[in-house]
Amino acid sequence: NPVNGPDTNICNQPKLLDGTPLPDKCCAPKSSSDIIDYKPPPFTKLRGRPPAHKADKEYIAKYNEALCMMRGLEDTDPRSFKQQADVHCAYCNFGYDQDGYPGVELQVHFNWLFFPFHRWYLYFYERILGKLIGDPDFAIPFWNWDHPDGMTMPAMFTSDPNSDLYDVNRSPKHQPPYGLDLEYDKANLCKPPKPYKQLVEDNLATMYRQMVSCATKPCLFFGGEYKGGEALVNQMGTIESTPHNNIHVWSGSEKNPNGEDMGNFYSAGRDPMFYALHGNVDRMWCIWKSLPGKNNRDITHPDWLNSTFLFYDENAQLVRVKVRDCLDTRMLGYVYEHVDLPWLYNKP
Ligand code: C2O
Repeated sequence: NPVNGPDTNICNQPKLLDGTPLPDKCCAPKSSSDIIDYKPPPFTKLRGRPPAHKADKEYIAKYNEALCMMRGLEDTDPRSFKQQADVHCAYCNFGYDQDGYPGVELQVHFNWLFFPFHRWYLYFYERILGKLIGDPDFAIPFWNWDHPDGMTMPAMFTSDPNSDLYDVNRSPKHQPPYGLDLEYDKANLCKPPKPYKQLVEDNLATMYRQMVSCATKPCLFFGGEYKGGEALVNQMGTIESTPHNNIHVWSGSEKNPNGEDMGNFYSAGRDPMFYALHGNVDRMWCIWKSLPGKNNRDITHPDWLNSTFLFYDENAQLVRVKVRDCLDTRMLGYVYEHVDLPWLYNKP
């Protein structure tokens, strides 16, 4: 059976992965109208998501304005920045039970729901921002961490503490121009950083390994099967485990107890940089499918294709989406702007 999204009648006290309860519940507000099966609205041109490090002033100002408006919505509005961040807490810190399976917690990490869940999550985040600024063509940026030019925190998120793109709960140590280590581990916190050239070479080798040598089959790339009624599965796909998890921990503040914001599921969505990190994760799904291997294709198991999630759309309507409807980003109206893939030609 597929995983049928959350049961909206149940809102658990969320907890950390080790079971420690979190103080605040984070489920989405109740909907006053019925849930609608989602159909992406028609569009006239594809939105191109740009690499964050290449964004110009005008684009940054626009994203800033959109986020300012999102932050300005009432906390109870499902489109507010607070509620958008809480989506991640509810789906990832056991705030929900699976619909139809009371007492079985829902978890979209560590399994094959990782890519489709985050694709839909970013999609609605982007639609809401576009609506708020009256620009349905607005596209969020991606943090191009697989390219040497993107291996620092993107400046648009760090350069202005008064910007709505800024977040104080980030690692003070890893501010630009400090280089991003795609295999960062907290255990290395006090070791001297690698020379930049070495860091870049190692990162490109990591990308090749996680995208090519170790991702030779859908189950390895997407992660393990997770079906309706099953308890937590722990079989991460290659990109989820490294570099995705490492970038989370590297970005969050080592001064906070749980690495907040980026270093923990429940708080990660409070940092606007989170959505850029995941833009590139999402882009890796597109790229992986475009690689020549004969197994580089989507999972065909109906339980994956028919799994569902619930999101509020840009009109604050609660909608049900299916994994099968997000496999092609062009159907959702967006693509990623083209950037070179130096890791692909960097076979270690
Ligand atoms: Cu839902 Cu980057 O994790």
